[in-house]
Amino acid sequence: MSEPLTQTPLEKTWVPWMKSRLSQRRGSSVPQFTNSPTMIVMVGLPARGKTFISKKLTRYLNWIGVTTKVFNVGQYRRDAAGSYNSFEFFRPDNSEAMKIRRYDADDLLFQKESVVRLFKVFDATNTTAERRDVILGFAKDNGYKVFFVESICDDPEIIAENIKQVKLSSPDYTDCDKEEAAADFLKRIECYKMTYVPLDDSKDRNLSYIKIFDVGSRYLVNRVQDHIQSRIVYYLMNIHVTPRSIYLCRHGESELNLVGRIGGDSGLSPRGAKFASALGAYMRGQSIRDLKVWASHMKRTIQTAEALGVQYEQWKALNEIDAGVCEEMTYEEIQENCPEEFALRDQNKYRYRYPKGESYEDLVQRLEPVIMELERQENVLVICHQAVMRCLLAYFLDKIADELPYLKCPLHTVLKLTPVAYGCKVESISLNIEAVNTHRDKPENVDVDREPAEALETVPDHI
Ligand code: G3H
Repeated sequence: MSEPLTQTPLEKTWVPWMKSRLSQRRGSSVPQFTNSPTMIVMVGLPARGKTFISKKLTRYLNWIGVTTKVFNVGQYRRDAAGSYNSFEFFRPDNSEAMKIRRYDADDLLFQKESVVRLFKVFDATNTTAERRDVILGFAKDNGYKVFFVESICDDPEIIAENIKQVKLSSPDYTDCDKEEAAADFLKRIECYKMTYVPLDDSKDRNLSYIKIFDVGSRYLVNRVQDHIQSRIVYYLMNIHVTPRSIYLCRHGESELNLVGRIGGDSGLSPRGAKFASALGAYMRGQSIRDLKVWASHMKRTIQTAEALGVQYEQWKALNEIDAGVCEEMTYEEIQENCPEEFALRDQNKYRYRYPKGESYEDLVQRLEPVIMELERQENVLVICHQAVMRCLLAYFLDKIADELPYLKCPLHTVLKLTPVAYGCKVESISLNIEAVNTHRDKPENVDVDREPAEALETVPDHI
């Protein structure tokens, strides 16, 4: 049978090939760690940054695809013991309170969620040698590996700063005078010192752990058991607490953005070029010493970075998601030529991998070195792309995989991220230069047999 004369080259080559593979759902190439669940146990006196580390590590592990949950003993103690009066509660000779605290920690360890095969970060101050044995026994009986993270710090200035930053706003000190609260907290630390037993390099030599001294000025690592534990160690050795801001933005509007085509490697539109110079002016206004500027290997981010007139670094890992056979197509063309693929993507946008291209899940793996280096650096401006910016933003804002591909990252808008206490403050700065909208929300109907109009209902306008 001869082919209709109206067939485009795309229809002749890709469409039959795509149709042939529609029934083959692509699996994930991303390693899964569910068969080696691990309990990460925080060790250390109060105000040594255990909660900060557990929250940050949990966010990182979830972002790389290792489902992790924090179990905070302090919260359980508050739930069981009710309102807090003073440090007296923590005295080792307060037998009533000790009973509650011991019971709480056991309850936390053995509660229902403990049997779920996930990574757990056990954030607990009451890590006496006896408690560690309970944890190790539980882990052995339930098939968990255990990795201890001990934070050791005797610098009074660092401890005072930590108390000021996070402890005074704790529910224990609601409606309490700040100075009284700080004094009470210092006495609470003294109570803990009476029972706290640090990990012992000789007696505990069979345990797996990292000791972090003085917020990362020195580390001691012992018996790393597997790949994921070495990633945890690597991550903990890269993070820091120096105040800084990370600026995220996309390139200026591109020629392909104007016509609604995804991917490709076009240059900036006239409005995109205007944004690039406005970005330069905005960043100069921020007066940041030693600002690092990063771009991808694509023309549109390079042109944007060039307009800043400063040195910049190029990362191939920052390139836009590879849309494979759909590169340079409009959403309308994807729907027309391969409607099933378009629907499959809408069904699971995070896991969906473009034929001969990438998924958001792949992109997260590609961006891990970027995140690691961002953790090491101080002030950085990252000029990137829509899908890439969504992945980076999801890491900093702790967004789940389902939400990640729909995060709003409009053109010509800078997001300024500043770490605060246990999270990240976000400021969205529009540089007031018009640009096309490139954000397509998830449509209501994601079935493969939906009508074209239903598939296209959320496609943004373009020329
Ligand atoms: O394909 C390139 C786009 O910037 C990513 O957009 O994942 O929302 O389709 P999308």
